[in-house]
Amino acid sequence: MMKAKKHILRLIGILIAMPLWADAKPGEQEYQAYCLACHGDKGQGGVNFSAPPLAESAWVQGEAERAIKVVLNGLKGNIEVDGHVYTALMMPPQGAVLSDKQIADILSYVRTSWGNKSGKVKPAAVAKVRKEIDGIEPFYEASELLKQHPLPKVETALRGLLVETYLGEWNKLPDFSKLKSEGLEEEHSNIISFRNISHRKNFGLVWTGQFENRKRGGHKFILQADDGAKLIINGKEVAKIDGIGDMKRVARAEHWLKKGLHDIRVEYFQKGGDRGISLYWEGPNNSKGGFLTDKVKDIAPVHEPIVLKPPGSEAFIYRNFIEGVSPRAIAVGYPGGKSIAFSQDDCTMVLMWKSGFIDAGLHWTGRGKGFTKPVGEGLVSLSSGSAFGLDVNFLRMEHDEHRYPTFVYQAGDYTIEDKPLPSENGIKRVLKIHAQKAGKLIYPLNAAALETIAIECEGKAKLKESAIEMTLKSGVNTYTINYIYK
Ligand code: HEC
Repeated sequence: MMKAKKHILRLIGILIAMPLWADAKPGEQEYQAYCLACHGDKGQGGVNFSAPPLAESAWVQGEAERAIKVVLNGLKGNIEVDGHVYTALMMPPQGAVLSDKQIADILSYVRTSWGNKSGKVKPAAVAKVRKEIDGIEPFYEASELLKQHPLPKVETALRGLLVETYLGEWNKLPDFSKLKSEGLEEEHSNIISFRNISHRKNFGLVWTGQFENRKRGGHKFILQADDGAKLIINGKEVAKIDGIGDMKRVARAEHWLKKGLHDIRVEYFQKGGDRGISLYWEGPNNSKGGFLTDKVKDIAPVHEPIVLKPPGSEAFIYRNFIEGVSPRAIAVGYPGGKSIAFSQDDCTMVLMWKSGFIDAGLHWTGRGKGFTKPVGEGLVSLSSGSAFGLDVNFLRMEHDEHRYPTFVYQAGDYTIEDKPLPSENGIKRVLKIHAQKAGKLIYPLNAAALETIAIECEGKAKLKESAIEMTLKSGVNTYTINYIYK
């Protein structure tokens, strides 16, 4: 029982979100099923930096190949997105479960939502990349992918930006003019950032350059810093945050500027803890401005709980990492409230439960940190280890018109089509096993599961102890296994 419990705990990490799908944009529904859990309902990224944002991420802008490759083949390795470096994370490859059209729809949705303004993606573009990378090992290294597809340059209003580094321990902004800098460097990106700064504590930075102003009039500036920072334009102090503290401290200022180039100077110091600076501007009468800094998000975003409701007549499919178990798993919620989870690594149905509502709020407020509870009853851990105890290889997932999936995989010499369906009182699982010759297969179950469910087999299959024994003839063998709540 202990083992079963642990297994369930590890598995519930995969279960989450199904917001209402009314009036969805193309690709939105798929985004919610395949990306939302990690990247957030508004592409804002995961809680506690568990996944980077897609909203305004340079990774999804410009040429589409970069993002197509990420989705097809997965991603790992340190990655910087929107001013934050994410370490020790992995994104599972989804090329095997998503069609070219699905990927094109999802990326089109992502590239045109939440402030992203890139072009739509055609299924043919996905097909082309899929062909090109056919047969490569899963998981791109972020750094390797960047070499193939450098990020598009972000345009800021800054020109000729230089940065000077100072070392020292301060509790307030020092008078940098009296200090000797460690070095001067050009910021080719024209963005105020820590991209090339390896110091974490006891240092100061001074950025100097020009601010190109296209509209005469009053400009708004919003400065936030951890620890202190000061904005100086044409030699005049415009905004300042001083002393030790976090990014929640905000200095707002209005400053009148005529059209053209203005000298800008931003001073910054950091003692210990998190480092961060954010500087945003807006033109006259709320006309467009933008960030002059990388948007530093060292404050974990707070999310409203998402109340989940399985949709009416179709299954919903949801996938996510299962911490400590498998980076690849798929959860399916069927109309009527029955749900299952299928492991792509073990090629087996690992979990079932009923009245399948899910409390995604746990996930989003960070209380559960990536783990969320299926809300319902009858959570049963069905198996451990691979299907039939054989070497398995997940091939693909197919959908019928209700979006009910069929999982297709190889187990030993057998090709298996595995289709779970909701039944009155549980799950009815139809297995089609393609065999080259006659034989026998044993499908192990968790003994503990049999306390909650009864197994009834149709076809040449029968329950023996806590395993299902199947007799095969050469050709296609069909078995139906009913998992019935007692
Ligand atoms: C299981 C969690 C998970 C799922 C599901 C997931 N991602 Fe990711 N994604 C990540 C993680 C983690 C990274 C960062 C990988 C790294 O550290 O190198 C990432 C990185 C990315 C990146 C590059 C960085 C960025 O933020 O722009 C893109 C683009 C992306 N994912 C798109 C998608 C899309 C589209 C989907 C849905 C088809 C999706 N992801 C599903 C976890 C996930």
